[in-house]
Amino acid sequence: MVCLGAIAGGSVLSSCAKVYYAQYSVENNSIKIAKSEFEERSAVVVKDDRLPAPIYLLKEDESYSAVLMLCTHKECEVAPFGQELHCPCHGSEFTNKGKVLTGPAEEDLKKFKVTTNDTFIFIA
Ligand code: FES
Repeated sequence: MVCLGAIAGGSVLSSCAKVYYAQYSVENNSIKIAKSEFEERSAVVVKDDRLPAPIYLLKEDESYSAVLMLCTHKECEVAPFGQELHCPCHGSEFTNKGKVLTGPAEEDLKKFKVTTNDTFIFIA
């Protein structure tokens, strides 16, 4: 894992958020993750070799959003940086829901449809 840091106001801010890779299964072409994978976490990462990059799955209250961690500029893999996703290649920054904050990327990250039931989250 690469840990990025920035100096702001004389203090060093580290973004070295631990990435948790969630256990999952595939069911009817959806990725299925137990809600219990979150425990106290607000986000998990799903790495499935059929996809060109991992999925960043965010939990806010009881709603979930999922984006592909593939920069829309030139397809480097973005990494969590605090509450954002940053691209190490040319510095694009995205919200943790995939919206562009800083270019050169101009398009938001690819979003997935997310549905849930009492126990599981499904990413399609
Ligand atoms: S590939 Fe991400 S900013 Fe260029």
